[in-house]
Amino acid sequence: MPLTLNESFVIDGSWKPDLFKGKVVFITGGSGTICRVQAEAMVLLGANAALVGRDPVKMEETCSEICSLVKRKDACLPIANCDVRNYNDVEEAVHQTLKKYGRIDYVIAGAAGNFICDFMNLSPNAFKSVISIDLLGSFNTMKACTPALLKSKGAILFVSATFHYYGVPFQGPVGAAKAGIDALSNNIAVELAPFGIRSNCIAPGAIDDTEGFKRLSKPEMVQNVKKMIPLQRLGSKKDIAEATVFLFSPAASYINGHVLVVDGGMWHTGTLF
Ligand code: HXC
Repeated sequence: MPLTLNESFVIDGSWKPDLFKGKVVFITGGSGTICRVQAEAMVLLGANAALVGRDPVKMEETCSEICSLVKRKDACLPIANCDVRNYNDVEEAVHQTLKKYGRIDYVIAGAAGNFICDFMNLSPNAFKSVISIDLLGSFNTMKACTPALLKSKGAILFVSATFHYYGVPFQGPVGAAKAGIDALSNNIAVELAPFGIRSNCIAPGAIDDTEGFKRLSKPEMVQNVKKMIPLQRLGSKKDIAEATVFLFSPAASYINGHVLVVDGGMWHTGTLF
């Protein structure tokens, strides 16, 4: 798989190359396209990253590619066989991260499952599957990381979406899950900020070359999708990387309980691709 960001993100970007030096980020769904680019951005700016997921081969490959990119062999720790639906799996992943790096400063709760299905054909178990991965998995991630975040006075970023802002057809389970994630983030923002922890969400729109966009669109739809987006283009992985870095950076130190929508203004049009 080609690398998705490169040093130009650092050299041409607005960020100091050592912005996150000495910091550690814990990322669930770390080999998925959105989370991978978030991991790359944080590591390019000096952080170490624990990438947590189910598939051992994908986790190893992703970590070794990112380590090669930054020429730091210990920059990434692959943690596989972790299903975020199981709290014990996530707790074990946190344990491995602390054993390797000694701290966790930032958390990205990004593990997600989704499919296109109309309500009439949606089984209770199908609904439960998405809610369990996306919403319960996000809760498990935050819960397991909280002791470490209390020590580091860190921050969490949940990966949300815009599906629940209006009635998007065939996206019921993920819309319900992401609405819950926004609510969970707001709750954490209020309860844990007095202890120094910030909680925010990022809500990507139509981001080119990602798993989510491939699942929800067809190649012949792309030109029309672009015209429907006020900024007249698809989002890029770099757009997600920039927003992620901003929300973890000191520039966002007073931003807490916010959902940063990165969709070129699309949800305001009331349509989805
Ligand atoms: C209807 C479906 C279905 C489909 C599965 N099910 N796929 N129903 N349409 N396409 C039903 C099954 O029939 C079953 O119900 C229930 O869901 C559980 O299915 P399993 O395969 O047993 O579940 P599991 O192995 O746990 O898989 C979970 C999953 C799967 C969500 C269904 O797709 C998955 O693991 N996905 C992870 C990767 C992924 O989805 N990434 C997408 C990320 S992109 P019954 O009743 O038969 O038992 C993304 C975009 C977000 O999330 C938006 C960004 C903007």
